[in-house]
Amino acid sequence: MPNRSKFFNPETAPYYDPKIDRRVVLITGGNTGIGWYTVLHLYLHGYIIYMAGRTESKVLKAFEDIKKEAELRNSKKLEKDPEFKQHPYGELHHIYIDLLDLSTIPKAVKNFGSKENKLDILIGNAGIMGVPYKITKDDYEIQYQVNFVSHFLLILNILPYLRKESTTGVIPRIVLLSSIGHNFASYKHFKPEQNKLNCFPNSIYTWVRYGIAKTSEIQIIKQLKIKEPEILSIAIHPGIILGTELYNHWREIPIIKYGANAFFAISDKLIGVSNEEGSLATLKACMDPELTIKKDSGEYFVTGGIVDKPSKNASNLKYGEETWDWNLKELQKRGFEV
Ligand SMILES: NC(=O)c1ccc[n+]([C@@H]2O[C@H](COP(=O)([O-])OP(=O)(O)OC[C@H]3O[C@@H](n4cnc5c(N)ncnc54)[C@H](OP(=O)(O)O)[C@@H]3O)[C@@H](O)[C@H]2O)c1
Repeated sequence: MPNRSKFFNPETAPYYDPKIDRRVVLITGGNTGIGWYTVLHLYLHGYIIYMAGRTESKVLKAFEDIKKEAELRNSKKLEKDPEFKQHPYGELHHIYIDLLDLSTIPKAVKNFGSKENKLDILIGNAGIMGVPYKITKDDYEIQYQVNFVSHFLLILNILPYLRKESTTGVIPRIVLLSSIGHNFASYKHFKPEQNKLNCFPNSIYTWVRYGIAKTSEIQIIKQLKIKEPEILSIAIHPGIILGTELYNHWREIPIIKYGANAFFAISDKLIGVSNEEGSLATLKACMDPELTIKKDSGEYFVTGGIVDKPSKNASNLKYGEETWDWNLKELQKRGFEV
C-alpha cells in the first residue's frame, strides 16, 4: 500500500512570477496521463512550459483544460479564504516532436532555441508500454526508441541550454520517467543491443523490452551525474497508475482484455495511485528546493518522491557506461551530431 503521508506536496514548493523569474521547462508528452498533472502544477507555480508533443490538437486541448483546472483550484481557495493571494500563472507553449521519428528531435531543439536561451528543467515523460514488437524507421525496437533513445538524443542536443542555466547559480535538472518495470530486464536480457529481442511469446517478451528501455533510462541518469556534475539528474518510478492511457493496448486485446482489466482493477485497489499522485515524484524532482546535486543527483525516486534503489543492472556504472557508448555510436551511425 502506498504511504501517502510521505508524498511530496507541491504547494510547499516555491512559486515564480514569469515576468520576473523565467523558469523554463520542456516536457515530452504531458497532454494526458501523469504528465498532464505535472504540467498543471508547474503552470500553477509560474513556470514557462514547452510541451513537446506530436498531435497539436491534443496539446492545445490539454492547455485549455489545464487553464480551466487552474482557475477552478484558485477560485476554490479564494472561497475558503478571502485573503488568499493568487500566484501568477506560467505560460504554456507547444513544440512539435514525434519520438517515433528521431529527425524531429534536433528540429524541436532548434525551435526551442529560437524562443529561449536557457532551460531550467527537462522532463522525459512520454512513454509507451507493453506494445507488440515493431521496428521503427530509425531502426530501433519501438519501446526502446520512444522511452529511451529519443530522450537520450534530446538530452544530448539540449544540454547546452541546461549548462547555460547552471552559470546563473540556478541548478538545472533532468528528470526521466523510468518505471519499476525496469526490473523486467532480467539477468540475461538487459543490454541496449538486445533492444530488438523478439522471442515468443510477445506477451512476456514485450515486458522484457520495456524493462531494457527503462533500465537504460536509469543508467543514463547515473551517467549524467558523473558526466554533467552541474546538473541535477533524477530517475523516476511514478507509481502504479491505472487511470492513464499507458495500459490502453492491453485493455483492448480481444479476450485477453477481460483478464487484463480484472488484473488492473485489483492492482489499482491494492497498490494504485491517482494520476495526480503519479505526478508527485516528478514534481519533487523538479521543484523541491531542498534537493542538492551532491545528495540527490543520480537518485531514483519512487511513488510520491521517496528515494529507492533500482535494480543491480540499472545501478551498475560499468553497464551504464556501455549503454551510453553503444547508444552514442548508434546515433552517430544514423548521422546525428552527438
Ligand atoms: N502509468 C503507470 O502506471 C506508469 C508506471 C511506471 C512508469 N510510467 C511512465 O510514466 C510515463 C508517463 O506515463 P502515463 O501513464 O502518463 O502514460 P500515458 O497516459 O499513455 O501518456 C503518455 C504520453 O506520452 C506521449 N507519447 C507517446 N508516444 C509518443 C511519441 N511517439 N511522440 C511524442 N509523444 C508520445 C503521449 O502522447 P499522445 O497522446 O500523442 O500519444 C502521452 O502524452 C511513461 O514514461 C511511463 O512509462 C507510468
